[in-house]
Amino acid sequence: MVIASAPGKVILFGEHAVVYGKPAIAAAITKRIYVKSRRIDSGIQIFSEDKTESSIEYVKHAIELVIGTKRMKKQGIDVTIDSELPVGGGLGSSAALSVATIKSVSTLLGVDLGKEEIARLGREVESKVQGASSGIDPFVSTYGGAIYYRDGRFDRQQINPLSIVIGYTGSPSSTKNMISNVSHLREKYPKIIDHIFDVIGDISERAKIILDASNRRFETRKSKICDESGDLNENELGDLMNLNNGLLEALGVSSFSLSNLVNASLLAGALGAKITGAGGGGCIFALSSGREKEVSTAIKMAGGVPIPVEISFDGVRLEPNSRKNII
Ligand code: PMV
Repeated sequence: MVIASAPGKVILFGEHAVVYGKPAIAAAITKRIYVKSRRIDSGIQIFSEDKTESSIEYVKHAIELVIGTKRMKKQGIDVTIDSELPVGGGLGSSAALSVATIKSVSTLLGVDLGKEEIARLGREVESKVQGASSGIDPFVSTYGGAIYYRDGRFDRQQINPLSIVIGYTGSPSSTKNMISNVSHLREKYPKIIDHIFDVIGDISERAKIILDASNRRFETRKSKICDESGDLNENELGDLMNLNNGLLEALGVSSFSLSNLVNASLLAGALGAKITGAGGGGCIFALSSGREKEVSTAIKMAGGVPIPVEISFDGVRLEPNSRKNII
């Protein structure tokens, strides 16, 4: 038996535009999916509390790809999924599931995969199930921390702790459908939608400058982009989140509940709030900057579920003792 786990994520800036080659920034969070795999005589068995069709698809494709890397014959494998992430919540549950399955099953079968390969296979699983994937989710879930991502290439983004509260609407959404809706809108209004993607890309670039400056400040305390106290310029980061959210609204990926949670968070004093992930349902996150309690209460009052998280610097990993327990 081998247990592996991988973190979910928030896309801080740039979802949807990243599918069209624009930059985006994402960070892994301290909520994970655990995948336990063990050998059985034949076939593939999958146990998951949520029992959604799509979870099963991600696991099946992940197993097939791992087996395919060594051209092995079919293997009997039993997989059990244990998740701290809401399914279809925009928190990268499908990528975390794919990446944790790849790590768990490859270890079980003695296939040695590096992180780069795990992330690339994770992207392939997403593309097969969703029809399109920028790859940002599997990459951040594999490596942990924060990444600046563009066109299959990524840089580790140094990031200091941010106080983030996630607001879950309670209704799942389909990443595949949301990507397809945006694609139809782009077919109808190519010039306008490409402009929106360009501006979202500019927002991600500007956010990168602020995050980089705050890190330099951590070391030198001399950055000009930081505010007077020398802290991370959270006000500007909040502005950029609000601008990004307006553009996601324009792309049609918001919903009544998502807008409600964004507005409630801002009224409670969050510096910025935006949809995270594909939208349509799922989650928002708020930059709460010392007002976590007020923002969490506001999210609850607006009908959402507040999920306080921190950035996770751990990516995909084997859980203790799982190597010893390979049978
Ligand atoms: O909803 P999630 O966590 O699957 O995020 C999807 C992010 C998109 O930009 C909409 C798609 C992608 O592959 O980048």
